[in-house]
Amino acid sequence: MRRYSRIAGTGSYLPPRRLTNADLAAELATKGVETSDEWIVERTGIRARHFAAPDVGSSDLALKACQRALEAAGLEASQIDLIIVATSTPDMVFPSTACILQHKLGNAGAAAFDVQAVCSGFVYALTVADAMIQTGAAQRALVVGAEVFSRLLDFTDRTTCVLFGDGAGAVVLEASDEPGILASDLHADGKHVGILCVPGHVSGGQVLGDPLLKMDGQAVFKLAVGVLEDAARATLAKAGKTDADIDWLIPHQANIRIMQSTARKLKLPLDKVVVTVDQHGNTSAASIPLALDSAVRAGQVKRGQHLMLEGVGGGFTWGAVFLRY
Ligand code: UT7
Repeated sequence: MRRYSRIAGTGSYLPPRRLTNADLAAELATKGVETSDEWIVERTGIRARHFAAPDVGSSDLALKACQRALEAAGLEASQIDLIIVATSTPDMVFPSTACILQHKLGNAGAAAFDVQAVCSGFVYALTVADAMIQTGAAQRALVVGAEVFSRLLDFTDRTTCVLFGDGAGAVVLEASDEPGILASDLHADGKHVGILCVPGHVSGGQVLGDPLLKMDGQAVFKLAVGVLEDAARATLAKAGKTDADIDWLIPHQANIRIMQSTARKLKLPLDKVVVTVDQHGNTSAASIPLALDSAVRAGQVKRGQHLMLEGVGGGFTWGAVFLRY
């Protein structure tokens, strides 16, 4: 009998400081940077985002999301034997945020490591955890997306600083005789490194290069709409399913226009797309598990339904996971 992995529980956490577009526009105006609620809503669908306090790291947001996911699954941290954190904003250069989180959860001994695939990080992490569970290398995993992207923003660059927010989402993935994750499809093309990056690095006790986010928004937009359709179709083909089998599309939450375009290409009505970008902004690796948990807790996503999770972002990376919830 095939061994699957299935989601046993979901959880998420947003830091309490919430800024509407008007709040952010007022703050930016004090720096001479001009933007408006109208522009942000029309071009992105974003209405608000959350920013973490300066002393709060990705592991702190991840901890709260994991506690909620464990509670939803009816499990204790001590029953977890694998922790994978997808993040581009780790607490430290090393050790991994997953190790820091493991200590905060109090389950010494569980394998713990980070995955770095920027906004595709959660689908990458979920695919790795699924493979480890299928082979028997792990029994129960916490798969987390956690970010403090506000730390990477250049608040004098209106083309990027209005887009991102902080937060964390997590799932407990456990071995099961029943599906579960049905198929996944991951890709990268490193020739596009320059269109979305934070080019700085640490060397000799200094930050060398620019440690703030740079993005060619239009180039990212064009690539994203193409690869998201391809990844969804490839994943469905591997699972032996079609567009019609998707109950919910849960895409990376970067821009409502990218999500609408993907839904159109997959012939899905917009009411089958989980949308949280309006309230969360782009939280990079955290956006998919945040959207999933919001939809589960709102009673939208129900047990037995089929979900298409899709990520796309810096690298350039992209991928999809199709699963029975
Ligand atoms: O998470 C990884 C994936 N990331 C993404 O998927 C992001 C993909 N890209 C996008 O979502 C969009 O390209 C953006 C939202 C970043 C930009 O939207 P756009 O429709 O491509 O706008 P644009 O860059 O073509 O800019 C249009 C105008 C420009 O003014 P001019 O040159 O036409 O006079 C910008 O200077 O809008 C201006 N602009 C702004 N105006 C007010 C750019 N940012 C702002 C702003 N407020 N915040």
